[in-house]
Amino acid sequence: MTANELRTMYVNFFKERGHKEIASASLLPENDPTVLFTTAGMHPLVPYLLGEKHPGGKRLTDVQKCVRTEDIDEVGDDTHCTFFEMMGNWSLGDYFKQESISMSFDFLTNYLHIPLERLAVTVFEGDELVSADVEAEEIWKSFGLKSDQIFRYGRDNNWWGPAGQTGPCGPDTEIFYDMDKPKCGPNCGPSCKCGKYVEIWNNVFMQFNKEADGTFTELKQKNVDTGMGLERVLTIFNGKTNVYDTELFIPIMQTLEEILEKEGKAIPERDKRIICEHTRAITFILGDPMKISPSNTEQGYILRRLIRRIIRLFKKADINANYLCELSVVIIEQYGLVYPELEENRRVYSGTVTKRI
Ligand code: ALA
Repeated sequence: MTANELRTMYVNFFKERGHKEIASASLLPENDPTVLFTTAGMHPLVPYLLGEKHPGGKRLTDVQKCVRTEDIDEVGDDTHCTFFEMMGNWSLGDYFKQESISMSFDFLTNYLHIPLERLAVTVFEGDELVSADVEAEEIWKSFGLKSDQIFRYGRDNNWWGPAGQTGPCGPDTEIFYDMDKPKCGPNCGPSCKCGKYVEIWNNVFMQFNKEADGTFTELKQKNVDTGMGLERVLTIFNGKTNVYDTELFIPIMQTLEEILEKEGKAIPERDKRIICEHTRAITFILGDPMKISPSNTEQGYILRRLIRRIIRLFKKADINANYLCELSVVIIEQYGLVYPELEENRRVYSGTVTKRI
């Protein structure tokens, strides 16, 4: 399956179930000043999750470009990316747990053809504020998941949001793909970082708003906010073990190999992955319609930090850092049809490099 087939399959699945497709918003969250970047599909929807009426109705779906730098040190492993595409569906005061989990299960098993035994899910174990999510657990069991495929975790793992200081949040049920590796120990489970379990989808049951004073108030409406990682699902569906072996990274990785060969240099695989992953991220940040440029503050600072990390690796390899422009151009060409803003903002990258060399 190609990335575009996956994007289309996801969005069509939800459109056929009454969802309106909305466009991917900017990487700068206009509707959520509490975060620097759009880290999830829900940011552009914050006013609607809080009760404002959305022109598209109560059921929405999209593929949203996202930037998350909290896992930056893990980039270079098989699955973590600072830039990624999140496929999502939302219920704004419409369906809740039963229908949400049911649609997810249908998509996972009947459309992505993931065998039941390769799924593992987590549910909220409850605390003083919100009781355990027995309902979600029972729904998963009704679809045939065995007890050893369902894990209960606390607020650290099974509570999503708010992404910033305040905003909509709630307990979630996360869906993992079991890579079929042996457990790394008796406590190995989805929260373990050994690589046996890869998170692919998160269904948040958004019932609360975190206020500035730290208290939680019930939202006017019960929402569902989901997010599925395109890169990871593409990896799994195509039987790959890491995102760099998918069509999303193969062209840029190949171009980097060509550059290294031309220069007669060899660098560690992890460095190659970091260069390519960060180059994709900065290309999307620089190509955003909101016109972000490197600076000392906020988004510009993150951008500068990513660029510096790439340049440091080029220097370590003793290669001219201007090659970065060539790599960026590969990304523009690859993603230009889906994200035309990259092509429109191509001049940002370099006055001279306008096509792949
Ligand atoms: N907003 C949820 C997440 O990012 C779906 O995991």
